[in-house]
Amino acid sequence: MEKKKEIVLSGIRPTGFVHLGNYLGAILNWVRMQNEFDCYYCIVDWHSLTTHPDTREIQAHVTRLLAELVGSGLDPEKCVLYLQSDVPEIAELYYYLNTLAYKGELEKTVTFKDKVRSQPDNVNAALLTYPVLQSADILIHRAAKVPVGKDQEQHIEMTRRFAERFNYRYGEVFPLPQAFNYGGNLVKIMSLDGNGKMSKSENQMNTLYLADLDDLIRKKIMKAKTDSGPATANAAKPDYIEGLFGLMKIVSSADTVSHFETEFNNTHIRYGDMKKQLAEDMVKFIAPIRERTLAIRQDEKYIKQVLREGAVKARASASATLKLVREAIGLNYY
Ligand code: TRP
Repeated sequence: MEKKKEIVLSGIRPTGFVHLGNYLGAILNWVRMQNEFDCYYCIVDWHSLTTHPDTREIQAHVTRLLAELVGSGLDPEKCVLYLQSDVPEIAELYYYLNTLAYKGELEKTVTFKDKVRSQPDNVNAALLTYPVLQSADILIHRAAKVPVGKDQEQHIEMTRRFAERFNYRYGEVFPLPQAFNYGGNLVKIMSLDGNGKMSKSENQMNTLYLADLDDLIRKKIMKAKTDSGPATANAAKPDYIEGLFGLMKIVSSADTVSHFETEFNNTHIRYGDMKKQLAEDMVKFIAPIRERTLAIRQDEKYIKQVLREGAVKARASASATLKLVREAIGLNYY
């Protein structure tokens, strides 16, 4: 008999354009996992309400994100791709988990403290319980693996804690999920000015988006921060130069990379030439994804069908878990 595959769950917020960091750091892992595991990928529109209460653009964001995910290689025949708001079972589990989560631990969460700083006028309760909703996303499918970046590890640790408390109080229902990545390719995609990471919504000229047209890609890369070059042979690279080499390693040939490494080390590097080459290789890398995405976006019928079918499959898994949860708590009255 075929061994049951491990369950994978991950989520992405529909709050902006997908950029190269999202693609290389997260989505490519998702694409790879869909061939090995039983994968659920959720567009977490409820989560986005905690930071983006204005919903005039939410539908446009969701359809574009879905198209970008499929354009990046997620195959709705191989994984379950669905919307959080299509699965009311998540909200019910969220409630039960809220009874097991403590105000003190939620207040100590790094992402919460960041939001208190960045949006002091909207410190809503859902922001405080954001990790509880995320835990419900994961536990509703009894997932074992959660592909996420470093910044999400604290949330996954909290998920394990809530699952453990539930199991201890009501009986064993949930496996304890682990953050997951394929070692090795933990690439950090620097912003083009070397100032932190690429961003979904800020810092747009220093971030490469999958939707960027060829000339915009060229323009952003040609404007990327450089300097007058290393003063001594084999110097250490400043962050912004390291970032350019990092991008080159991803989209250019090994020969190209080693050519510019040599030029850097012997202090002859001409950053203009390097950026020109990087720009052309980046265009070749991004354009096919952008074109596939565009074709999908134009097929509204297909997008709706993917969402509808994803919702059915996600709800089947979610309601099976919720039945166990209700029985464990004792909410099965008749
Ligand atoms: N908090 C995640 C982020 O900001 C998004 C997310 C929501 C998520 N629910 C999830 C990630 C469940 C993994 C699993 O990137």
